[in-house]
Amino acid sequence: MLNGIPVGIVGLGSYVPDKILTNADLEKIVDTTDEWIKTRTGISERHIVEEGMSSSDLAIGASKRALEDAGITADKIDLIICSTATPDMMFPATSCIVQDAIGAHNAGAFDMEVGCSGFIYALTVGTQFIKSGMYRTVLVVGAECLTRVTDWADRSTCVLFGDGAGAAILQPLKKGRGFMGFELGSRGSGANLLTLPAGGSKKPASHETVNNREHYIRMDGNEVYKFAVVIMGEASLKALEKAGVNPEDVSYFIPHQANIRIINAAARRLKLDMDRVIVNVDRFGNTSCASVPLALDEAYRAGRIKEGDILVFVAFGAGLSWGAAVLEWGGEPLEEGESICQ
Ligand code: ACO
Repeated sequence: MLNGIPVGIVGLGSYVPDKILTNADLEKIVDTTDEWIKTRTGISERHIVEEGMSSSDLAIGASKRALEDAGITADKIDLIICSTATPDMMFPATSCIVQDAIGAHNAGAFDMEVGCSGFIYALTVGTQFIKSGMYRTVLVVGAECLTRVTDWADRSTCVLFGDGAGAAILQPLKKGRGFMGFELGSRGSGANLLTLPAGGSKKPASHETVNNREHYIRMDGNEVYKFAVVIMGEASLKALEKAGVNPEDVSYFIPHQANIRIINAAARRLKLDMDRVIVNVDRFGNTSCASVPLALDEAYRAGRIKEGDILVFVAFGAGLSWGAAVLEWGGEPLEEGESICQ
């Protein structure tokens, strides 16, 4: 169990662009079939941004909904952490753009880039800011426009990704256990397996990098797959152990929505029936940092998640990196003015 005051999620929101790209649409773009995509990945369609939209637009939409759900105004937010691998620009931080747009005039803001694991890292960091007593209300938002860096000529990757955002408001609790355990990890030896090679300080964008299509995602799908099927289960078990929770007591498992076969393998490792696993990869594809909060928000708004439920979030991604968190859903937030110190 974690020390300090319990910290929970008191508001949730998500946002996806309206435009839908189906597998049938992809059949017209690359040499693929609906059947291949469904059987190898579980994906049927994904939402994609229109021209002119960016990650901040999605993050702003999700954040406004999370604020509404929490029943608080933006001026109450002390800190915004935006996890994204597809920021609007190299700088400024996308979180600063969100801060201004939602009117969070009292908030500090920074971005976190940990591939698809970013949202779990951001939850972990946000929780620590509250436990330390430094802040009371933290907005964590995972936002991604992977289709902006997708190579539409590469059939092995372009069928996988979608765009979206999910946001959570964290606050201290006076009743309930909130976040009970986290597990974070990295294996930089696998950094070359999933990259966006150009546009950073190692290989600045140039005519040559564009001609070589190095401004798009490159992935060794088979190697990432082998890593993912092991790490999703392992990371979840470690987070559960740290939380002091038995796997059989998990109400819902909410994994990164990359591929249904990876999700199935992780559920088997945890000995969980699929009715306790939240899946929406079929309709959204892999939305990277947005995938866990998007799945959580959908399940929450559908009334599937109840007070006291034990939830496990787990994600993996570029880095290679991974993260898992165990949360007791619900609880009662501290009233404004009540002391955060225990
Ligand atoms: N349509 C039809 N055929 C295809 C397609 C496609 N879209 N893509 C690949 N193929 C072909 C390949 O060319 C290959 O043909 P060959 O046997 O003639 O050479 C065959 O299908 C099998 O290819 P594999 O790559 O072995 O297929 P696999 O079953 O491994 O599925 C996939 C590929 C879906 C990419 C899988 O490896 C995977 O999901 N990997 C993990 C990816 C992931 O989750 N990444 C997450 C991180 S993303 C992030 O952090 C931004």
